[in-house]
Amino acid sequence: MDTIQIKDKQFTVSIREQDIQKEVIRVAHEINRDLAGKNPLFVSVLNGSFMFTSDLLKHITIPCELSFVKLASYQGVSSTGAIKEVLGINEEISGRTIVIIEDIVDTGLTMQRLIETLGTRGPEEIHIASLLVKPEKLKVELDIRYVAMEIPNDFIVGYGLDYDGFGRNYPDIYTVVD
Ligand code: IMP
Repeated sequence: MDTIQIKDKQFTVSIREQDIQKEVIRVAHEINRDLAGKNPLFVSVLNGSFMFTSDLLKHITIPCELSFVKLASYQGVSSTGAIKEVLGINEEISGRTIVIIEDIVDTGLTMQRLIETLGTRGPEEIHIASLLVKPEKLKVELDIRYVAMEIPNDFIVGYGLDYDGFGRNYPDIYTVVD
């Protein structure tokens, strides 16, 4: 499927499943190499990163734990800036190496806020692993250690990402047609 329709918008395929997988595996190998012996706690940000998390973790070969948080900052196609934490983490954070798994860093405000929140619980270090980054949209200084792909400033869906709740199920990534 090269084009899809979601509600009022048309999207065209921009990153194919096999290209996504190649980059996800590369990131997993980097994490295996860098964090060996650190017993990291992966913190996956729902809902958007569920597919990335699943594919990434299949290629993590070092001992690790996985937890999920749910945050919301996006409605429709533009960031509202307001972030609310819905689900928390029960695992011990103090002294741990934390790797946040995010679907996409846009303005960076969501990541900044999550790092602040986790930081109050005494982790040894916090890294970000993001499937996608829109470098042109970044509003805050953020050290994103693991990035699968950088993309232009266009709205996308698929591979976990949604438009008003729809489109998360596609294995490819689609860009909105203006
Ligand atoms: P930020 O706080 O502006 O960095 O927004 C990050 C969140 O906005 C991501 O976790 C996504 O849920 C959402 N988001 C940003 N860009 C897109 C997009 O192009 N499509 C779908 N969701 C997006």
